[in-house]
Amino acid sequence: MLPALIALLLSLLPAVADAASMDPTERETLFRVMEAVSSDRDWRFESPDPCGGPWPGLECKPAADAGAARMHVTRLDFGVEPNPTCKDSASFPPEVFTLPHVQSLFFVDCFTNPAATTALALPPPANLSATGLQQLSIRANPALSGVMPPALASLRSLQVLTISQNGLVRGEIPPGIGDLTSLLRLDLSYNSLSGPVPSQIGQLKSLVGLDLSYNSLSGAIPSRLGELRQLQKLDLSSNNLTAGIPDAVANLTSLTFLALSNNGLTGRFPPGISGLRSLQYLIMDSNPMGVPLPSELGSLARLQELRLAGSGYSGPIPDAFGQLASLTTLSLQDNNLTGPIPAALSRLGRMYHLNLSNNALGGAVPFDRAFLRRLGGNLDLSGNSGLCLDDRSALRGIGACRGGGDGGTPMSSSARTSSGSRGVRGSLVGAACVAVCCLLALNEHALY
Ligand SMILES: *[C@@H]1O[C@H](CO)[C@@H](O)[C@H](O)[C@H]1NC(C)=O
Ligand SMILES: *[C@@H]1O[C@H](CO)[C@@H](O)[C@H](O)[C@H]1NC(C)=O
Ligand SMILES: *[C@@H]1O[C@H](CO)[C@@H](O)[C@H](O)[C@H]1NC(C)=O
Ligand SMILES: *[C@@H]1O[C@H](CO)[C@@H](O)[C@H](O)[C@H]1NC(C)=O
Ligand SMILES: *[C@@H]1O[C@H](CO)[C@@H](O)[C@H](O)[C@H]1NC(C)=O
Repeated sequence: MLPALIALLLSLLPAVADAASMDPTERETLFRVMEAVSSDRDWRFESPDPCGGPWPGLECKPAADAGAARMHVTRLDFGVEPNPTCKDSASFPPEVFTLPHVQSLFFVDCFTNPAATTALALPPPANLSATGLQQLSIRANPALSGVMPPALASLRSLQVLTISQNGLVRGEIPPGIGDLTSLLRLDLSYNSLSGPVPSQIGQLKSLVGLDLSYNSLSGAIPSRLGELRQLQKLDLSSNNLTAGIPDAVANLTSLTFLALSNNGLTGRFPPGISGLRSLQYLIMDSNPMGVPLPSELGSLARLQELRLAGSGYSGPIPDAFGQLASLTTLSLQDNNLTGPIPAALSRLGRMYHLNLSNNALGGAVPFDRAFLRRLGGNLDLSGNSGLCLDDRSALRGIGACRGGGDGGTPMSSSARTSSGSRGVRGSLVGAACVAVCCLLALNEHALY
């Protein structure tokens, strides 16, 4: 009743309706998009002049072309309040890419109904007119399926492209993505993409962020990625990438974040990796690297997190790691490291998480009382049968030996938990309480 009345009133005021009116084709496209996605209101009746009043999730701007006071849709936001929410039967609207002046499109947490999957699609190239689109974000849509549309390559103005956390989106990354040379950020993480990382991504010279993590990409990391001189964040973790890290990665001198964990990467680090002067995070757990740790990593002066667990590294922990003055986290567990723990590690004043468990390290633990107190339960040396403590008082002084006794009694798991919550991890504590230097193993078996 009310909508009908409003419609009647509006029909009596054609001059007002026209004043801020949109191009009729553009308005019709907008209504069709709204109807495909949202049922929050009857858009045609309640908002017959979409740009004329406040409409959450919609942004309009006056037309640049002189004359008529026309408004154009420049931004559409779906999925998260106060924006229009998506209906259960929402379907992806390809015609949204025919809104000629749209600059930003967001579909976040929108296509979520597993009983109504809908395919990511673009209109045929001849109909695709959203060539000024700068930002496209399609994120957290578990019911969105289909492949990465090759026609994306036509959206030449894109600066930010996010197609992420849409578990059903599969297929290969179209090589044409290399034509989107205005891109600053490309995030295709957490989909089901397969095939290679296209070397054409090397053409995206302005890129500062590239995230392809959590897909099923395979093959080698293309050398051409080394051409991305502006790149600050590179995340290729949790894929199926193989072969070595290309030497050209050493040319990415703007990198602050490099993550390559959970792949099939093998072999050595690129010579010249010490040239990555800005690097703060090097996250490379779980790759079959199978080489010694390069002491060159010790030159990465800004490094805060170095994670190289579970990657078959052998040989000693380089003394040079003791130069990493900014380091807060060092994870080297589950490798085949041998030799002593470098004494210089104990002088790293920002360290608060050190995991060296499950290696074959030996000799005296070089950490003093202050270091042990600071790290507390974030220090893990378990599973290194050759390690020993030669200063039992260091640990007793911080009250960590409760329940351990002096007589070589293995700690119970409850003692381990309670001392763990107070600070130093039980596996280390237990050994401290019973150890005669170098006679007792600091490993789980000796304790439980
Ligand atoms: C593409 O544009 C043509 C001509 O305007 C139109 O007839 C056709 O329906 C459009 N196709 C799609 C899929 O939008
Ligand atoms: C990775 O590759 C191997 C061998 O080609 C294959 O068996 C495995 O399923 C792949 N894993 C993923 C997550 O795609
Ligand atoms: C790094 O960049 C320099 C200068 O552009 C180039 O000559 C060199 O080949 C690049 N290194 C690698 C390993 O690609
Ligand atoms: C350590 O090396 C041995 C052989 O030298 C190998 O069997 C084992 O798998 C390696 N462990 C790890 C964690 O790489
Ligand atoms: C060290 O790594 C092991 C193996 O991944 C893990 O189980 C343990 O919880 C870690 N310890 C700490 C203190 O993070």
